[in-house]
Amino acid sequence: MGIFSKARPVVGLDIGTSSVKAVVLKGSSKGYQLQNLGIETLPPEVIVDGAIMDAEVVVEAIQTVFNKAKIKLRDVAVAVSGTSVIVKKITLPDMDPKELSESIQWEAEQYIPFDIEDVNLDFQILNRGVGDGSEMDVILVAVKKDKIHDYIGLVAQAGLDTKIVDVDGFALSNQFEVNYPSESGETVALIDMGSGVMNINILQDGQHVLYRDISLGGNQFTDAIQKELNVSYEQAEALKKGEEVEGINPSDVTDIINSVIEDISMEIQRSFDYYRATTSSETVDKVVLTGGCSKIAGIDSFLASKLSTKIELGNPFRNIAFPKKFDPAYLQDVAPLCAIAVGLAARKVGDK
Ligand SMILES: Nc1ncnc2c1ncn2[C@@H]1O[C@H](COP(=O)(O)OP(=O)(O)OP(=O)(O)O)[C@@H](O)[C@H]1O
Ligand SMILES: [Mg+2]
Repeated sequence: MGIFSKARPVVGLDIGTSSVKAVVLKGSSKGYQLQNLGIETLPPEVIVDGAIMDAEVVVEAIQTVFNKAKIKLRDVAVAVSGTSVIVKKITLPDMDPKELSESIQWEAEQYIPFDIEDVNLDFQILNRGVGDGSEMDVILVAVKKDKIHDYIGLVAQAGLDTKIVDVDGFALSNQFEVNYPSESGETVALIDMGSGVMNINILQDGQHVLYRDISLGGNQFTDAIQKELNVSYEQAEALKKGEEVEGINPSDVTDIINSVIEDISMEIQRSFDYYRATTSSETVDKVVLTGGCSKIAGIDSFLASKLSTKIELGNPFRNIAFPKKFDPAYLQDVAPLCAIAVGLAARKVGDK
């Protein structure tokens, strides 16, 4: 984590389903300071399930973010998510990193549901000498090449240079490391609930143990409100955000929101159950929730009751200083949306 390093900074560029976010951080011996921040909303249907349907609109939004936020840097870190990303913790015979990079393709084949030729592979060795000492735990990351290609192309069209391609969930844990001191022995589930994708990343003692992207998020709430109350997309978005719409009873909205949270909580529970079944640890001690959906009124307490776990609303700017040009109220308002962009901005050119 190079906060003291002289490595060149990158712009954390999060191309989300409902908006593009860009964050620039300045690292010093005192920690991080926010330099630039920009958010530009995307119209619906421009990005669907992580697939870019209208590249031109996204490119324009990226350029607008850079212009409005006066970002001069051209090097960016982006992240991919959704169904083209597979992250798995696997156990392999113990070998050194060089050996593993030579055999990873072969080792990975059985764990990846895609043609191995179609993915870019990466790995991180977590622990060597586990089991009877002859094995090691490895995090395997596979991302479809065409997805990476799409993102790099998009960034290039916007006149920028992709230096780092990450996955959402790792950017999320990078952000968490920057903002929250680690408490040893704790199992934390980081959940970023955006509009199209929910990233779940369970960390045990700061190490990745389970990673999953689920195609659920804010769009489910908007769709349900739109259908059940027979309102427009704009009205449904407003109702979801707690705004009033004439002729609509707020308690009807709450009922719909709660039933969607219930569906989503079942998916989260499924991941927690899988975690419990595949590791020695018993419970998830707490959830740290970010993403636009964390702003839904009462989602924390309702989710807490469904999952029987503590839910904390994460603040991606918690440990980041900001100069006077930023309005604290604005930062507080947009903070939940910025977790991935902050995590990406904390990377440096040369980071893997
Ligand atoms: N105050 C609010 N109340 C409820 N929902 C909100 C609020 N503000 C934003 N949202 C919702 O949060 C979602 C956007 O969150 P976010 O920016 O984290 O998603 P994204 O990064 O664009 O999408 P994804 O990560 O899924 O690709 C939208 O569905 C939006 O309607
Ligand atoms: Mg997002």
